[in-house]
Amino acid sequence: MKIAIVHDSRTGTTAAAAKAMAGILERRGHSCTLGPLAGADPSKISEADLVCVGSWTQGLFVILQHPTRASMEFISRLGDLHGKKAVVFCTYKLATGSLLPRMAAAMAARGATVVGQFRFRGPSVHEGFVSFASSLGDGA
Ligand SMILES: Cc1cc2nc3c(=O)[nH]c(=O)nc-3n(C[C@H](O)[C@H](O)[C@H](O)COP(=O)(O)O)c2cc1C
Repeated sequence: MKIAIVHDSRTGTTAAAAKAMAGILERRGHSCTLGPLAGADPSKISEADLVCVGSWTQGLFVILQHPTRASMEFISRLGDLHGKKAVVFCTYKLATGSLLPRMAAAMAARGATVVGQFRFRGPSVHEGFVSFASSLGDGA
């Protein structure tokens, strides 16, 4: 499967989580592109079979959490994602509130089928994502 992973990372945590995700998916034989969403070409990203968009969690730590403006703007610039799968993910410290559902709704509004929503408390990827990667089958 052709997979695109883009992220908005302020201090590197979300970028590290995205890199770990790509490693897991590549070990299963999928082909991944990985990079910051700033400067990524939304039309190229939309060509993937599975589009993964990640944001760091912005808010007041216990309330008013939301995805970054850049990540929501990027999603709004993606092409038609009908027939494509999508994953949304974030990193956080305390709480994520409605962040993931908001990103998922925005991806669904582009026509994607959202197959996963993951939050990582730091740069490491948890077992839930490993199971998800297995559920996709082998890429080759
Ligand atoms: C201004 C600001 C607001 C934040 N708000 C929240 C928040 O509401 N909830 C939370 O769990 N973490 C919050 N965080 C923590 C970051 O989301 C978390 O450290 C994240 O992993 C950083 O990712 P990055 O290294 O990719 O930028 C906030 C961080 C900053 C700088």
